[in-house]
Amino acid sequence: MPSPIIIAIDGHSACGKSTLARDLASRLGIHYLDSGALYRAVCLYCLDLGIHPEDRHAVIHNLDGLEIQISLGDYLKVMNNGQEVTERIRLPEVTRWVSEISVVPEVRRKVNEILRRIGKQQSLVMDGRDIGTVVFPDASVKFFLTADKMVRAQRRQNELQSMGREISLEKVLENLEHRDTIDSTREDSPLRCAEDAVLIDNTLLDRSEQLELAMSYIRLISS
Ligand code: CDP
Repeated sequence: MPSPIIIAIDGHSACGKSTLARDLASRLGIHYLDSGALYRAVCLYCLDLGIHPEDRHAVIHNLDGLEIQISLGDYLKVMNNGQEVTERIRLPEVTRWVSEISVVPEVRRKVNEILRRIGKQQSLVMDGRDIGTVVFPDASVKFFLTADKMVRAQRRQNELQSMGREISLEKVLENLEHRDTIDSTREDSPLRCAEDAVLIDNTLLDRSEQLELAMSYIRLISS
C-alpha cells in the first residue's frame, strides 16, 4: 500500500484554511481533518470542569481524564469521553479561550498523538497552525495561508451570521488579533510559515480561485 499523502495547511485565524482544506479534500477524494477542533475539544472539556484555561497546573492535572474520539466523514464528529461535542466546540466561550489552552505543551502532545495516528493510516488534508512545521514536517505539500485582517474579520462575521450569531466586527477582529498573537508568540510550536511551504495570500481570491491556485501548486509539486 502506498504511504498516505498529507497536505498541510497552516495560517492565521479565520483566513479560509478550513474552506480550502475541505475543497481540496473533496477534489482529491481524501478526508479533511481540522486539527483546531481537537484543541477546541480540550478547551471545552476544561471549561466544562470549571477549570480556568490559564490555570496550567489544573489543565495538565486533568488531561488524562479526557479521551477524544473523532470520526471523519462528511463532517468531523468530535466526542469527549463518549459525548458528542461537535457543535459545542464552536461556542464563543471556547473560541475565546482555545489559544490559552493551546500553549500548554502537554495539550499539544496529546493532540499531536491523535493527529499522527490518523495521518499514518490514511491520506488527509489537515489544517492548523503547526501541521507543516511540527506535526507532519514531511508532508507532501504545505501551504501557508494568510489574508488581510479586516477581510478575515468580515468573512468570520459573515460565517457566524449565517449560523445565526450576531457579533460586532470589532469583537471578531479583537478575537482574531488575540489568538494570532498568542499562537505566533507561544514557545511550543508557534505559528510560522515552514521554509518549504507555499505562501498564499487569499485577500483578493474567491473560493474557486483559491482552490485552483492550490491545485496548480499540488500538480507542480507532484510532477
Ligand atoms: O477559528 P479558526 O478556524 O481560525 O481556528 P481553529 O482552527 O478552530 O483553531 C483554534 C485554535 O486552536 C487556534 O487559535 C490555535 O490556538 C489552536 N490551534 C493550534 O494551536 N494548533 C493547531 N494545529 C490548530 C489549532
